[in-house]
Amino acid sequence: PKITFVQPDGLENVVDAEADVSVMRAAVASGVPGIVAECGGSAMCATCHVYVDAGNLDGLPELGDVEDEMLDCTAAERLDCSRLSCQLPATRDLTVRIPPTQV
Ligand code: FES
Repeated sequence: PKITFVQPDGLENVVDAEADVSVMRAAVASGVPGIVAECGGSAMCATCHVYVDAGNLDGLPELGDVEDEMLDCTAAERLDCSRLSCQLPATRDLTVRIPPTQV
């Protein structure tokens, strides 16, 4: 699947992801800036925060309790479309926006 990362300045990084990895892993493997992922994908750091494009929200896995709590700790503002990219599977094409800061 193609995962499109939109940077705060509008530049886009499009990554061809394997379907069995998370959106966070796809970003890190391709060196996409702005996905820090300090905890390595355990939903413990909130530095892999993304804003999911409005058209892509349907069909995502439900917000887990731990993810929900961590999303209250993001450096950038939490929005309704906020998710931790380590908790999103790259099973289909997705567009996510990178927040202005992760730390
Ligand atoms: Fe730490 Fe996602 S990588 S919460």
